[in-house]
Order: sequence, then structure tokens, then C-alpha cells
Amino acid sequence: MPAELACIEERCRARFAITEILYNCPQCGGLLEAVYGKPAQSADELKALWRARRTSNAPLDQSGVWRYREFIPFLDDLSRVVTLREGCTPLLPGRRAAEYGGLDALVFKHQGFNPTGSFKDNGMTCGASQAVQLGATRVACVSTGNTSASMAAYASAAGLQPVIFIPYGNIAFGKLAQALEYGAKTIQVEANFDQILALVRQLADRLGIYLLNSINPFRIEGQKTIMAEMLDQRDWKAPDWVVLPGGNLGNISAFGKGLRELKELGLIDRLPRLAVVQAAGAAPFYDLMHAADRSRLNAIEHPETLATAIKIGDPVSWPKALRELDASDGVVEKVTEQEIADAKAVIGRCGIGCEPASAATLAGIRKLTSAGVMRHDSDVVAVLTGNVLKDPGYIHQYHTGVLLGPTGERITPTYGNPPVVLPNDSGRIADFLAS
Ligand code: F0G
Repeated sequence: MPAELACIEERCRARFAITEILYNCPQCGGLLEAVYGKPAQSADELKALWRARRTSNAPLDQSGVWRYREFIPFLDDLSRVVTLREGCTPLLPGRRAAEYGGLDALVFKHQGFNPTGSFKDNGMTCGASQAVQLGATRVACVSTGNTSASMAAYASAAGLQPVIFIPYGNIAFGKLAQALEYGAKTIQVEANFDQILALVRQLADRLGIYLLNSINPFRIEGQKTIMAEMLDQRDWKAPDWVVLPGGNLGNISAFGKGLRELKELGLIDRLPRLAVVQAAGAAPFYDLMHAADRSRLNAIEHPETLATAIKIGDPVSWPKALRELDASDGVVEKVTEQEIADAKAVIGRCGIGCEPASAATLAGIRKLTSAGVMRHDSDVVAVLTGNVLKDPGYIHQYHTGVLLGPTGERITPTYGNPPVVLPNDSGRIADFLAS
């Protein structure tokens, strides 16, 4: 079976050519996903092939996405791939973080090591390559910051014109700066993420622009490889849990799909449980998972969190996310602004660091272990989605004790580490260091 697009709705499952420009099923409006036949290689052959490529200098093999190309076979011409050598992100143990989270051990898969500093690069290499394959000249996205930084870089690298739409005043400065530097036409709209996404979906059709939001199925294919790489790095031993923050819910959809497919291919023998963590002020998926009726998500009209990456009230991929949580016996947790801020500082003290949304993982783990949902001796991989330098303003405000939450509440700098000012005097500096 060649690669196709399929509607995810069980009652529909309509199929479409992989080269059609579709974001939703034209028959029922459902979300779409890429589907494939079985690869020619056995599980053991795939493992050996993917491992051997790590020593290769070929650009595709050096990408931690395209190294796994038999797992994402939607392009028939690999010369169209646009790669910045994304993926290849490390697994880092964090002893202090484990202790803080109530675990014996904890490992972070740090997607902040990507070329533009977030997991979006894993998906964007695929989305941008498909845009080239389709003959697009302009690509667009709505973003809380990281998608736009990533899209700007990959579009420019591919010779496409990037157009980005961001909520005015609500994205971290590092991300906005990246979009400008990578040459994106940058439109700051006076509305929130959900409102702008609705607007841009109409505009994309009208102006013939290819959309690279996570509703784009090829982005999801790329993000699947984060799980393949993590398992390859663990010699294909599945952890008990994979924990990640949830915003628009594309990443959880990608991880769930990837893990199920790896199990179907015989590369792993069991599925890890997935745990999604949302900010308490932007937790519509948490509400859905705790509601009696899970047939529709109640959007939050005014989502609020300082973790602006996940400040989303109406996540488009919720039906996929729900399917993956059910398939993996997963859970959803929500955490406060104070919990995110403190967890983030603890991750920093491990010498690792991350942006605020990523720290929701550790804050969520702490709650899940204390509630007895996650055992202290569980084998846990937490995915840090963005680099520490994405949002330096937040960090400086936390450590100097002036960080205010979305409703003006003061965040306590529990692990604050403010800088000091001293005169140009060796005696005074020596006294300070001795104290
Ligand atoms: N962490 C970070 C750092 C993010 O940038 C995002 C999403 C998420 C987590 C949540 O992932 O949406 O797949 O559930 N950022 C998007 C953006 C929305 O526009 O950059 P998700």
C-alpha cells in the first residue's frame, strides 16, 4: 500500500492521495493522518539500519528524523528533503529533578537541543519537505512562538516564503526574535491563538498558502520520530511512562501514533503510558478527560498562563489526543503557575534548563507520584520541549522575585538565585564569597 491520508474518524476512514492539500476530511470534517503499508525490512533489520546510519556523514542520515525514513515514508523523492540536522537530541538524567518529582530516577529527552531550540523542528522538516513536494511557494502558521521560529527557519532554508501569525504581546521574545532573523513576514494579530488559527485557516484557502500548523499531518509524522529516537537510544526498551506538556495537542498525537506503530512493527513489545500536563489556566483537555461526556471538548475562551507556548484554549488535535490517551492508558494532569516556575528552576539546577511549558512535565510528575498514579520506581522519560533561552525574561523575573502570574499574583521564587551588585573591590568580593 502506498502512503495515503486517512480520516481518523472510525465511522468514516475515507482515504485520499498523499499529495492532496487537505487539513480536514472533506467528507466528515475529521482530522487526517498519514497511513502506510508495512516496510520491506523486519524489526531487527530496521534497528540495525537505523543504528548504522549514526556513523554516516550523509545529510539525511545525520538528521534524527530522516534517519528513521522507513518509519515516515510519505515522500517519494528524498532529494526534496529540507533538513537542518534536526533531532539527535540527548537523554539526560536529572538526579535533583527525580528527587523533586518523587522518583528514584528521571531522564529528560531534551528537544531544546534542536536547531531552532524546540521539538517543532522534528515536525517542520517533514512539513516543509512536503510543501516543496507539493510545489508551494508560501507557507504559513499561527503560533505561540516555537512553531513560527521553526517554520521561518525551514521555509527560508527551502527557499519558500514564510508568513507567520502570532498573538500580539503574548509570545516569548526569543521566539519572536528568531522569526524575524529567519526572514518570516511576521504579523502580530490582536487576538489569542485560537482566534487567529480560525482566521488563518480561511485565509490559507483564499490565498493559496500551505498551512504548517500541527493540524498538518506531515508535521505529526516528523514528531513521531522523537519516540523512535528515544527508544533507539534506550536500545528499544520502552519506559513505563512518557510525560509531555500539552497545548494544541499535536505532540501527544504524534507520540501516541508513533509508539503504536513501533509496537505494530515489532520494534517494542509494550506501550509506555502517556501523561500530558497542562497549565491550570489553559487545561481544556484535562477538563475533557475528567468529564462524563467526552464526545466534545469545551473550549476555554480566555486561556491564561505564563507558559505562553501552551496558552491554548481550543486545541485542534484533541480527538487524536483522546485516542492516544485511551490506547496507552494515559492520564492528564494540570499544574499551577507556581508549580511550573519551581519545577523549571529545579530542572535548571540539574544543569539542564528548559522553557516554562517544558517544566510542566516535572511539576506534573510531582503531582502524579504524590497521588500514587505514578510509582516512585517507575521508568520515566519526560520530554523537555523547548530551550532555556527561549524565554529569558521569565527566568530573570523569577530569580529576582518580580514574576507575576496571569492574574497579577506574585510567584514565590522558592529556588530563586538573584544576581548581586558589588563594587570593584577585591576585599568586598572576597567577603561576599566567604559569607
Ligand atoms: N511545549 C512547547 C515549548 C511548545 O512550543 C508547545 C506548542 C507545546 C509544548 C505543546 O505542544 O501544541 O503539540 O500540544 N507550541 C505551539 C507553537 C502551539 O505554536 O509553537 P502541542
